[in-house]
Amino acid sequence: MHRKVTALAHPNLALVKYWGKADERLNIPANSSISVNLSAATTLTSVAFAAGLAADEVTINGQDADRAAHSRIVRHLDRVRALAGIATRARVTSSNDFPASAGIASSASAFAALSLAAARAAGLALDPRALSILARQGSGSACRSIPDGFAEWVAGSDDASSYACQLAPADHWDLRITTAIIDVQPKEMPSSEGHRLAQTSPFYRARLAELPRTLEIVRRSLLDRDFRALGLAVEREAVSMHAIAMTASPRQEEWLSGIYYWQPATMRLIQAVQGWRRAGLPVYFTIDAGPNVHLLCEGANQAALEQALAGELAALGGSFIVSRPAAGARVIAESRS
Ligand code: PMV
Repeated sequence: MHRKVTALAHPNLALVKYWGKADERLNIPANSSISVNLSAATTLTSVAFAAGLAADEVTINGQDADRAAHSRIVRHLDRVRALAGIATRARVTSSNDFPASAGIASSASAFAALSLAAARAAGLALDPRALSILARQGSGSACRSIPDGFAEWVAGSDDASSYACQLAPADHWDLRITTAIIDVQPKEMPSSEGHRLAQTSPFYRARLAELPRTLEIVRRSLLDRDFRALGLAVEREAVSMHAIAMTASPRQEEWLSGIYYWQPATMRLIQAVQGWRRAGLPVYFTIDAGPNVHLLCEGANQAALEQALAGELAALGGSFIVSRPAAGARVIAESRS
């Protein structure tokens, strides 16, 4: 008798960014971060531990996982096996309903769904904190996809104290997150390298010193539903992260002076957002480790934003997807075979 468990998780968008690690092996971040789960994208993952298997079998989006993905997932299953005290190999099937090119990182939803499905299939009953810790070990920001709605990942100082907890449920605030997709190429500089290089920026210490204040503003404006305060803090915070990236010193590429995730279309949208605000449309942006721009507005302004954005994207040749704040990782099916 084997238990097959299917779990669902959404990616999350950081309102306060995680940039730089205190412990690279354990994914302990240098700073706390705040995020919201994105409804428009979903990862579904099934896990079944089966006695007869010689090795873990991993299928992603209908195909055998490549070597790098396979070994990263096996390492994560090993963590679950160690917790459960079992040696059995597993069959893992995972699929995303959003293309890898959507400008939304899939590793957060992937490791959140995998952690929940694998822990449950192994017979573990992990509380939300233990589950968030497990997800973090697989991929740092995955820990924020475990709680429902808006989450804060408390940096902590060791494995047991670094995990995400809920700040507010998904229905706390009718925010919309519109992801403007202006480039579908995989990014040239993975976020792992960005984290590693962050401390080479002469401004990194200044960013860390500013963050407690930013976290407090974002936390408070979120709870008070103060959109202007939230938006301004989120926008400045994203630019602060990118300033660190741009002023870091990549070691391996001597021709490269810093990490530039922005493209001309990114800057054009930044300027469009400022123009829309000046014209009375309250919308703010944030940008992750890539060129695509995430736009935040309240539900009442979504139609106006889409109209304004469609005009810009027609010229830039991009598209967009719209999310609402979403629930956390959850089990959606469980069966015995
Ligand atoms: O979890 P990682 O290693 O992919 O890092 C995420 C980095 C950012 O998306 C840029 C910021 C964040 O907090 O999600």
